Amino acid sequence: MNLGSDTLLKIDEVIPHYPVKRSAVLPLLHLIQEDAGFISSEAIEWVAAKLELQPINVHEVVTFYPMFRQKPIGRRHIKVCRTLSCALLGGYKTCETLEREFNTHRGEISPDGEVTIEFVECLASCGTAPVVMVDDTLHEQVDGAKARRIAGQIKAEAAQRR
Ligand code: FES
Repeated sequence: MNLGSDTLLKIDEVIPHYPVKRSAVLPLLHLIQEDAGFISSEAIEWVAAKLELQPINVHEVVTFYPMFRQKPIGRRHIKVCRTLSCALLGGYKTCETLEREFNTHRGEISPDGEVTIEFVECLASCGTAPVVMVDDTLHEQVDGAKARRIAGQIKAEAAQRR
């Protein structure tokens, strides 16, 4: 499996922290998703072998927790909060604006491969709703105009890379 050497190191550090190997399944899956962007079936088998579990046991964990993705995502991950404060203050409209800007739908990779937009639950910034996270950066009070500015910034960064 194609994981960075940093991730492999962290995985080997994390396992001995647990009295029984199989208890490390969640942290391992988080580390893999952080690195690869999603949990592939190859990753499931790899974790199972590493923790002396059956692949079905790992698969059950992956499908139980909604934070684990089983499909690849775009280069940038846009998370739009849809919990109460954000929903009341326009989070759904913000999400639609972003979808239009990137010509995509929630959960899919945009045609240029640049983004995946998803709804998430409360991002712990309810006082500045609606909020959007782009990778690790939180954007507050994202109305339509700000959503368009964020999209413009992402597109400009993508163009620079090309
Ligand atoms: S409801 Fe959106 S950050 Fe809490």
